[in-house]
Amino acid sequence: MCGIVGYTGHRPAGPIILEGLRRLEYRGYDSAGIALFNGPEEFYVAHATGKLDALVQRVEGSLPPAIAGIGHTRWATHGEPSDRNAHPQLDPDGRVAVVHNGIIENYEELRRRYGRGPFRSDTDTEVIAHILAGDLEAGMDLLEAMRHVASEAQGAYSLVAIASDDPGRLVAARVGNAGGIVVGVGEGEHLLASDLNALLPHTRNVTFLEPGEFADVRADTIAYVDIEGHPIAKTVEVLPYDPVAAVKGPYKHFMLKEIFEQPDSALDAIRGRYLTRPARVEFEDLAFLDEALAKSLTRVVLVGMGTSMHAAMVGRFYIERFARIPAEVDNSAEFRYRRPVLDEHTLVVSVTQSGETVDTLAAMDEARRAGCPQITLCNTPGAQTTRVADGTILLRVGPEIAVASTKTMIASMLLLHGLALRLGRLRGTLDPEEEAAQVEAALHLPAAIGEMLKSAPLIEEIASRYASNEDFLYLGRGLGDPIALEGALKMKEVSYIHAEGYAAGEMKHGPIALIDERMPTLAIAPRDEVFDKMRSNIEQVLARHGKVIALVSQGDHSLDDIVEDIITMPEVTPYLEPMVTVVPLQLLSYYIATERGADVDQPRNLAKTVTVE
Ligand code: F6R
Repeated sequence: MCGIVGYTGHRPAGPIILEGLRRLEYRGYDSAGIALFNGPEEFYVAHATGKLDALVQRVEGSLPPAIAGIGHTRWATHGEPSDRNAHPQLDPDGRVAVVHNGIIENYEELRRRYGRGPFRSDTDTEVIAHILAGDLEAGMDLLEAMRHVASEAQGAYSLVAIASDDPGRLVAARVGNAGGIVVGVGEGEHLLASDLNALLPHTRNVTFLEPGEFADVRADTIAYVDIEGHPIAKTVEVLPYDPVAAVKGPYKHFMLKEIFEQPDSALDAIRGRYLTRPARVEFEDLAFLDEALAKSLTRVVLVGMGTSMHAAMVGRFYIERFARIPAEVDNSAEFRYRRPVLDEHTLVVSVTQSGETVDTLAAMDEARRAGCPQITLCNTPGAQTTRVADGTILLRVGPEIAVASTKTMIASMLLLHGLALRLGRLRGTLDPEEEAAQVEAALHLPAAIGEMLKSAPLIEEIASRYASNEDFLYLGRGLGDPIALEGALKMKEVSYIHAEGYAAGEMKHGPIALIDERMPTLAIAPRDEVFDKMRSNIEQVLARHGKVIALVSQGDHSLDDIVEDIITMPEVTPYLEPMVTVVPLQLLSYYIATERGADVDQPRNLAKTVTVE
């Protein structure tokens, strides 16, 4: 959720931290702040409510030439977005500055026990600065004090702190599953961040803090310890990312760029994995999933949140179809609280672009306790889900910066298709002809997505006519059902229009009461075996004066004269349709949002990585 950046080295820290915050702003953007060492025993501190630009304007011309400091972009949990609640938070004497991501659950009790004077903010963070300052005064050093904090403060969180009497030193802590800390290893300089994106311009050499680990970072040294203070050896990993992938290029928004990248994303996801002669799918990090394990599985449970859960719903279909294993999808946040029945024959597959979603991590913990084998589909190398799972399928689509997920969903659905084919082969449930046809179809998918994108001008024109509507209904059947849910989610997220997604058959059981001339319906109506049923649903909407935008198969003109608007999809094998039908829905939300002047890349109240429950 919140974004954290720290720098210590030989270059001016202020601009590096601000640039890092810019690259993390998608994580949280209701306020921001920075603290820099500013001469002996003193910090330069600035906060500003609103987006990062407000902070940049506030500090313009006044940043000291400090060579170390920390910064933060906030997504409010405790206390409204305001200057006084922005991070870094300081103790009353201004001796310690701290930035924080996650939640300190017992902060009220800690305030009573450790408060060193009046609290200036409503945050759960400020008390951490009070505790650290008290510990330093009692003779502890900053790392020791941080370990003490971690033993007292309950919850899942990460922290980075600096102390004015120890210039150039940053101490980071990761407690529990909320939000990771990545250490960027440079030459004569080191960085800390909540997310890889902030580090990309400076280094690709990184280490990741695990829960319960601390990093003591200076310009020339990094030491890692556990909560007892025992040293931990860590291996530096080299990131595969291309730094230019996080640049907007000619596009007005990251969301549009990422939508248009999807043919490449699909290709990047399957390259070297969907193989021909013989046709098969192989994954590089799934060695644990051998024939014996695959054959022993009695059930697959897919977990995820939001868009990732919609991708999982598509995946469930593939797993049942190709691997013939009963599969179900659960919302990660609900999963663990209903005490699911699990065992070592249940494969748990988590779908998460960030790999840090706290609800999904909690679901994985539940599965781990039950001894389930686990696979994670994730876009972030080194993310926490990749550490918990037995095997990882990286999405490999590069950083997704827009808060609303697009390209990661396409890659997730496609790779779940690949996983199902892999499982089907191992279990012997997949007919080789079917396998070859699916591999072949997937290899053509990037081109089909590219074809679909050619409808962008038409969709932009349609969007201009619907932008003033305040409600939207999305209907789909079969594989179109999760896509209808996703279309509605995208519309809500980026344009703030109320939208509902339904399995079309459900419409007459309630939602039909909403239909009138002000409630347009987007119907996903490819020419498949349920087309006639979908057509009946469309007729039911039209009979109640609802306007319909229909997404139809190439060459199908049967709805031309009855619906308001037609969007035609290119030819694609029915199983892979979701990866194509989702594209016009993404575009419709995007264009309606821009028409309404909404902040597409950073919609209100949202954050890219949700690290609080
Ligand atoms: C919607 C969106 C969210 C995420 C959800 C899970 O556009 O991005 O619904 O899908 O917060 O996030 P991850 O995939 O990081 O676990």
